[in-house]
Amino acid sequence: MLSHLMIKKVTADEIPLLVEISQSTFYHTYQAFNTEQDMQLYLNKHMNEAAIRNEWNSPNNEFYFAWLNENLAGYCKLSYHTQPDSLHFSNGLEIARLYVNEPFKKLGIGKQFIAFAKNLAQQQNLEQLWLIAWQQNKSAITFYQKMGFEIVGEQQFILGNDVQNDWVLRKWLNAK
Ligand SMILES: CC(C)(COP(=O)(O)OP(=O)(O)OC[C@H]1O[C@@H](n2cnc3c(N)ncnc32)[C@H](O)[C@@H]1OP(=O)(O)O)[C@@H](O)C(=O)NCCC(=O)NCCS
Repeated sequence: MLSHLMIKKVTADEIPLLVEISQSTFYHTYQAFNTEQDMQLYLNKHMNEAAIRNEWNSPNNEFYFAWLNENLAGYCKLSYHTQPDSLHFSNGLEIARLYVNEPFKKLGIGKQFIAFAKNLAQQQNLEQLWLIAWQQNKSAITFYQKMGFEIVGEQQFILGNDVQNDWVLRKWLNAK
């Protein structure tokens, strides 16, 4: 089935679709664990169209959609030249967002995104993939650990008015 999966860079025309999937997957993932007010504060501030367009325009960010049989199955945001608050990763690629739409979870799409990011990083002689995940997002942490990431630190994240604890996870790549 995944032979029909295509990971393609998000184009300028697709920004409205990117806004839609960013908001819907974020809401879906975290709404059960947070107040509606905090969720709306975060979405209005960080995931409005102007904010996403701004991120898309930055040369440090790349957005990719996963298309499965012409269905939008998920997306990821990759960021270059970023670092966690407390650790210095000068040679890494950040998986800044990775979200698979509900009906397409557990089909191997997340794994394909990791392989894709690894390939991009290696082409640019980067040595590690890293990311930040909410400590309470146990299923994502289990997924990342299965993909070879290890917890290497922690930092805070503010969702609306709520200060939350995140893990920093890293996966070393074999230098090319
Ligand atoms: C986490 C997420 C990206 C994983 O994507 P996915 O496409 O469902 O994962 P895959 O099908 O590629 O799974 C790869 C492996 O991880 C395992 N896995 C995936 N989700 C898992 C879960 N919830 N619990 C335990 N293992 C899980 C799979 O069983 C598979 O294991 P295998 O290689 O031994 O067969 C997806 O569940 C998601 O979008 N979650 C909500 C958003 C989110 O939390 N994003 C991360 C923010 S930091």
